[in-house]
This record gives sequence, C-alpha cells and structure tokens, in this order.
Amino acid sequence: MRLATPPGFATEVFLLEAPDGDLLPDGAWTLVGDLRLRDAWIRAGMPEPSHALWVSVPEEEKKLRTVIPWLEHWAGVPLHRDATVVALGGGVLSDLTGLAASLYLRGVAWQVWPTTLLAMADAALGGKTGADLAAGKNLVGAFHPPRRLVACTSFLDGLPPRHLENGRWELIKTALIQGEMDWAAEMLQDGPVKLPWVERALAFKAGVVHRDPREAGERRLLNLGHTLGHALEAASGYHLLHGEAIGLGLLGACLLAEEQGLKPFPASLLDPLVRRLAPLAPWVAPWPACLPLLARDKKARHGAGPTGEASATEIHCILPRPGEPAVQRVLAPQAWETPHARLLSLLHPEIVRA
Ligand SMILES: NC(=O)c1ccc[n+]([C@@H]2O[C@H](COP(=O)([O-])OP(=O)(O)OC[C@H]3O[C@@H](n4cnc5c(N)ncnc54)[C@H](O)[C@@H]3O)[C@@H](O)[C@H]2O)c1
Repeated sequence: MRLATPPGFATEVFLLEAPDGDLLPDGAWTLVGDLRLRDAWIRAGMPEPSHALWVSVPEEEKKLRTVIPWLEHWAGVPLHRDATVVALGGGVLSDLTGLAASLYLRGVAWQVWPTTLLAMADAALGGKTGADLAAGKNLVGAFHPPRRLVACTSFLDGLPPRHLENGRWELIKTALIQGEMDWAAEMLQDGPVKLPWVERALAFKAGVVHRDPREAGERRLLNLGHTLGHALEAASGYHLLHGEAIGLGLLGACLLAEEQGLKPFPASLLDPLVRRLAPLAPWVAPWPACLPLLARDKKARHGAGPTGEASATEIHCILPRPGEPAVQRVLAPQAWETPHARLLSLLHPEIVRA
C-alpha cells in the first residue's frame, strides 16, 4: 500500500507485508544491509547486487569512521552518480547509509527499507541522516531525504521483543505531540503494536516535515521527549535504547509541562506511562550526570546571562498538553531538575525514600 503524502513530498512511502522487488530502483543500485536481515532478504526472493555491503553496526559505532570504508568501496566499484543506494536495516544503519549517500559524489539518491519498528515509525522518514561525535548523538549529518521508503512488516518477525517495544515509544510520542489522549492511552496498554498506528504516525510526520523540512519551527515538536531522553540515553552509557530513553523523556516532559504551569496530565495517562517505564528505572542517571548533557544539547543556545556573565545556556523544550498540541518553550537546563526528581520518585519510589 502506498501511503498518501503531501503533494511534492520528497519521499514515496510504502507500507507492505512482504518485500516487493518491483519497488527497488529502476537503474543501477547497490545495497547496504544489516547482516541480520540477509537471510530474510534472500528468502523473500529479493536480489542482491554483487557489490552489496552486509554490515553489523551497533549504536556505539554510529560514527563517521564507519561510513568511510563504504565510500571507498563505492568509489572502487565504481558507483556512478546516477546510481541509487538502498539501505536495509534499523535507524542506525539508515541514518549512516543516508549520510554516506549524501556525501558520495556530493549526493546520490537513496531508498530506505526500515527493518525495526522504530525506524519504520520514525527514523526512516524525514530526511535526517547522521552520525554521532564524541560530544553527543547525531552532531554531524545532512538533510538528504530518501526517494522511497518501503516498510515491510514481515521483517519485524525476527526483531527481539525489547526492540519492538522500543519502537512503540516513538508512536506514543506522536500521539502526545498532538494531544491525542485516547490514542496514547490505547498504545500504552498491553498488546501488540498495530499497523494502523504506524500508518498514522508516518502520515503525521510526513505532513510536519513537508511543512518544515529544515526544522525551523513546527518540526521541532517531533523532538518531544528527546531533550531529557538524549541526556538519559547518553548518561546510561547507551544501555537504554533510543526509544526507551524517549519514553522516559516523554514522562519527564509531561512533568515539566505541569511544573511550567500547563494543564497536568491525568492519572489515567501518567499511571500506565509509569507502569511501562518502571523496569527502566535502574538506568535513569542521577541529576548531576544529566545536567551537563542537557546543557550541551544540539539545540542549545549559549550567550551572555542576564547580568552579563558568560555562557548562560537555554535549550528548546517541547511541552505536551492533554487534549491539545504540544508547545515549544526555551528554558534553562536547570528547569529539568524537579521533573527529573519527580520522574525518579514515580519510577523508583523505594530508592528515593531510602
Ligand atoms: N533520522 C531520524 O530522524 C531518526 C529518528 C529517530 C531515531 N533515529 C536513530 O535511530 C537509531 C535507533 O534505531 P533502531 O532502534 O532501529 O536501532 P538499530 O538500528 O540499532 O537496530 C536495533 C537492533 O536490531 C537489529 N535489527 C534490525 N532490524 C532487525 C530485524 N528485522 N530483525 C532482527 N534484528 C534486527 C539491528 O542489527 C540492531 O542490533 C538511533 O541511532 C537514533 O538516533 C533517527
């Protein structure tokens, strides 16, 4: 099924049960695929170019150094500028492959075939490609939208349950951005992830990134949960998966919104949120470990403070509201201290009491 996207949208979006070779590029193409998917790809009767790269890239290796051998390999093939690169894998592989495609010959076309729920629901759409630097996640990258996104749900059969649940958080984020309380509550219940949720999340994201491709305004709303989430992810030494960290960041953002005087979230939403997140409590870093990471957030602004002191930092924060779209606020990183303490006490009451 081809999803409806705004007229002129850079990426054609397909949501299918099984892979379909007809959706591969028409002309010359090559593949960068996750080694874990190779058998499934071949079993599905999909073609494999002789110069395909089958790789295994953990989150810690989402680095520029990982893509340099790929670029050298393409130059050796050689891959010409009319060729298309196909990325088959999760968000790490698609972020890196998209980045490599943006760099090679100053940009070649690419397609993305996401294979994790997180990549299907979020990472593969929107044209953001990137790699991490020692100073933080996704600090280097390019906006380079894929020509086509093909999400095949049969690939999810082999995905470990923890990674399936990881993707659910980006879906819940989408509901909270829109203030869609019933949808968020439905997704917080136990039970399998449903395809229409992915479809709805993709349609929403396509609209937002089409209106604001460079994240100058509205697109920043997609960072809901990411401010505290990225800090917690890094502070856990990446023990927390990206989506899990975003889940914690979503709870933190609900608490920050209340702290900032916005309408509080009802217990009917906070309770299931806390129940789902409670197993992650041991990996929530203490506040002193989070503060420096919040202050060096990619979207932070540094400038003179009110009394002229150097380097007062402000960060962009997205605050969700029950029943209404989220709003943006620029706040000091310290604004997160009380929500962080409340988050810990909600998730881990016995530790906070001890
Ligand atoms: N570009 C964006 O807009 C955007 C948005 C959100 C997240 N991201 C990025 O996405 C990354 C996280 O992506 P992820 O959660 O997909 O993690 P991932 O890419 O690390 O994949 C998770 C694990 O699952 C394996 N895997 C992938 N597909 C599989 C399958 N079908 N069956 C079995 N195993 C499979 C991978 O080898 C890996 O070990 C982060 O780096 C994050 O920054 C990017």
